[in-house]
Amino acid sequence: MQIKRVEDIYLPDSLLVLLFEDENFSGINNEICEIIETLKSRKDFTGKKGSLLRVPLIQGNLYLVGLGKREDCKLNLIRDSLAKGLRNIGRNHNKSAFVYLENLKNFDSLCVALGEAAILCAYSFDKYKTKDEDYEAFSLNEIYTDIYDDKEISQGVKFAESQVYSRELANEPGCVITPEKLAEHARELAGKLNLECEIWDENKIKSEKMGALLAVGIGSKNPPRFIHLAYKPANPVKKIAIVGKGITFDSGGLNIKPDQFMLTMKGDKTGACNVLGILKGAAELNLNVEVHGIIAAAENMPSGSAYKPDDIIRARNGKTIEINNTDAEGRLVLADALCFASELKPDAIIDMATLTGACAVALGKNRAGLFANNDELADKLLDSSTKSGESYWRMPLEDEIISESLKSPFADLVNCGERYGGAIFAALFLKEFISNNIAWAHMDIAGVDFIDKERGIYSKGASSFGVRTCLNYLCGIN
Ligand code: BES
Ligand code: MN
Ligand code: ZN
Repeated sequence: MQIKRVEDIYLPDSLLVLLFEDENFSGINNEICEIIETLKSRKDFTGKKGSLLRVPLIQGNLYLVGLGKREDCKLNLIRDSLAKGLRNIGRNHNKSAFVYLENLKNFDSLCVALGEAAILCAYSFDKYKTKDEDYEAFSLNEIYTDIYDDKEISQGVKFAESQVYSRELANEPGCVITPEKLAEHARELAGKLNLECEIWDENKIKSEKMGALLAVGIGSKNPPRFIHLAYKPANPVKKIAIVGKGITFDSGGLNIKPDQFMLTMKGDKTGACNVLGILKGAAELNLNVEVHGIIAAAENMPSGSAYKPDDIIRARNGKTIEINNTDAEGRLVLADALCFASELKPDAIIDMATLTGACAVALGKNRAGLFANNDELADKLLDSSTKSGESYWRMPLEDEIISESLKSPFADLVNCGERYGGAIFAALFLKEFISNNIAWAHMDIAGVDFIDKERGIYSKGASSFGVRTCLNYLCGIN
């Protein structure tokens, strides 16, 4: 996608205007203003939030997207509305669009949102569909705009490209992306971006005492992998570790999931894919922060060699864990990865994981859970999430009763507690593997990781929710 400054009066295939309710439009030229006035007076288009109308012109098409009332409008709505309009334009065989932004110029970071929307609207996971005569290719490849901020647009584009990289990987089914394949993608990315890259196979995982990751991966014929990438600029101001859950498929293991719950579990590697996307973004934006990407990858399968309920395993920091549910596997692979991250003594650790159905039940499919042992880190991440338009809700990390339930009669910990407070239990379990008093945040992205109905910037499938919030956070470090 090319995004350019519009020169004088240029007539592309299409024109996109975002309109507020109860606000007169004066821009572009008299003809367009008259059309909009007429549509408003006839109530054909009033600027109602979420509305979209295509108006054929003598040359090209005018697309109108409603924003509702100006006082209720946030940048997030603008990003979604731009994506909605541009997606329609691209599906209607238009090759170029003029996006009129003058009436929105009071919004901060407007051109970041345009860059993001331009890239995100064009993405859908359709590589496996036969492109027959009914196939409608996305035709838009040139965007012109009257408000053109070079730096902002390029930042938005890079943020979105990082998210798309992650979505493309996360959307791949389990038969394509195994832990080994995920590691190959990591190595390829590291090669392209000059990142340090270390990959451990199952033998090394064992000798490095990652007993929890090993246990989860041992039941599959596709063995586990541990992946460590590092982006190291010359004089970094901070060192941050980003840790991702990379379960390439979660069948539940011997505590096997019922049919409907197993569907979409290819998406259980989204945290890991996000880590790769974030590393890509950090390197391409030349951030002055050292960023470590840490991924624990395994396939959770039932088999004769699978780990079992009642097993007692030992994590990298020496803590023993009694397994009472093999479907609570994410926290196990993350345990070893968080130990490794703590050993690096970074300024902060952020982990991302499709960890608990309980979190999705609590917060719905549009808001992720945020847990943190440090208020400053939590606040910075919440700030960053406002910029990215991803919403999070801070969840408690203190709960005496749930903490008590982590204890096992036979080992140091159990991996699963009772149903109630399941997301908090999982977070408290992870906390056991953070050492050296490091500031740590955990994002539970179960539920938000998978989009079942197209909306705003999202097409169906993996959302890779979390990538842009983390990149915004990293960009804000100085
Ligand atoms: N990967 C799942 C969590 C999940 C659920 C992600 C729905 C996305 C959508 C995780 O490994 C899991 O199975 N969690 C269990 C934990 C339970 C056994 C304590 C769950 O949430 O049911
Ligand atoms: Mn599971
Ligand atoms: Zn899982």
